[in-house]
Amino acid sequence: MHDFQYRGENLFCEEVAISDIAASVGTPFYLYSRQTLESHFRAFDSAFGKVDHLICFSAKANSNLAVLRVFVRLGGGVDVVSGGEIYRAIQAGVKPEKIVYSGVGKRPDEIEYALKQPILMFNIESSQELLAIDQIAGKLGAKAPVALRVNPDVDPKTHPYISTGLKKNKFGINIQKSVDEYILAGTLRNTRVIGVSCHIGSQLTEVGPFVEAVQRIKMLVAKLRAEGIEIRYVDLGGGLGITYHQEEPPHPREYAEALMQELPGLDCTLILEPGRVIVGNAGILVTKVLYTKEGGEKNFVIVDGAMNDLIRPSLYGSYQRIQPVHKKDRIETTVDVVGPICESGDFLAKDRKLTKVEPGELLAVMSAGAYGFTMSSNYNSRPRVPEVMVDKERFYVVRKREEYGDLIRGESIPDFLA
Ligand code: LLP
Repeated sequence: MHDFQYRGENLFCEEVAISDIAASVGTPFYLYSRQTLESHFRAFDSAFGKVDHLICFSAKANSNLAVLRVFVRLGGGVDVVSGGEIYRAIQAGVKPEKIVYSGVGKRPDEIEYALKQPILMFNIESSQELLAIDQIAGKLGAKAPVALRVNPDVDPKTHPYISTGLKKNKFGINIQKSVDEYILAGTLRNTRVIGVSCHIGSQLTEVGPFVEAVQRIKMLVAKLRAEGIEIRYVDLGGGLGITYHQEEPPHPREYAEALMQELPGLDCTLILEPGRVIVGNAGILVTKVLYTKEGGEKNFVIVDGAMNDLIRPSLYGSYQRIQPVHKKDRIETTVDVVGPICESGDFLAKDRKLTKVEPGELLAVMSAGAYGFTMSSNYNSRPRVPEVMVDKERFYVVRKREEYGDLIRGESIPDFLA
């Protein structure tokens, strides 16, 4: 469910006509519905209402300050993977004690920054990282709160680029070997073991793999407790999928029930790191048709949004629904929707049935709230597009469109080229 709906022929976000926003901010732009963000967060949060839990929204999916602030106001924390994300989270008002930090390659300066906040927990992905964190904590006179991110070797049955919980993936510490690592962690002076974490992949459309992972985590927690290692937090990561096209992922309620069923008497705070399921369908990319043309074999709709704005179709071959902002009573045609970037990999849709469009008309690329803006770039020296948030009958630019000056900010021509 989301708040991008037609009223008559016109697509609205909550109470605002999307064409009005386009007239004011230009195209392309990302558009988020506050109402949808809130209702998705609440649905997820309340699904775990029966147990002690903390929802740490995964900032990599959408790290706009206003978006993060919506979740802060609902009591949420944040899952981060870089110093930059910690900075954003703090700027958005996230309490440091609600920040968990994952990632296979945390740099010393990032570790130090996190320790100084101080954050709730480091999800550690290798023994070298564990030793590095212990050493840096020692230097700062701090005690680093850690969980080991274990790799439960479960197949999430999703796109290979976003599978993370298989033995062959770079993530986490092999679950079999993790007990030894925990014992090692217990001997370190500047480290305090407080949890176990895992994340098996993204855009999962079945609960089975999550349940399998939880069962393995539960066994690990029992083993650790038998070794006298106290575990207070179990972090199950994110990964619940959404409907882009015809997927039928479980509702957060079903997902939560399935997980909670495996965890009675765990006596831990459960941490979840959802990203896509909260923001994916709470955002769209609005783009304008520049030209249409008939090629030798294909018909093209050339729009002003491109792979630098939304890379998911090019990178993963993923499907994003495309809808007209004004519905017209016209015939359907099969087209490739492509951007202005100079490579054939630049497309938003391939062989898509779309009602015929004309230059100047607006299209809404749906389900673009997760991994949309955050993965955008300046490729082809295209300024990054603005982000807009609607709250009932008003809209707010929550990140302004970049200007040409932004493109060269920080660059300089050295003297020898003068
Ligand atoms: N926690 C960790 C440790 C993660 O690595 C991720 C995602 C999440 C949580 C959030 O997962 P979610 O609930 O959003 O599935 N760019 C790709 C997705 C990459 C996901 C990376 N990790 C895409 O556009 O599909």
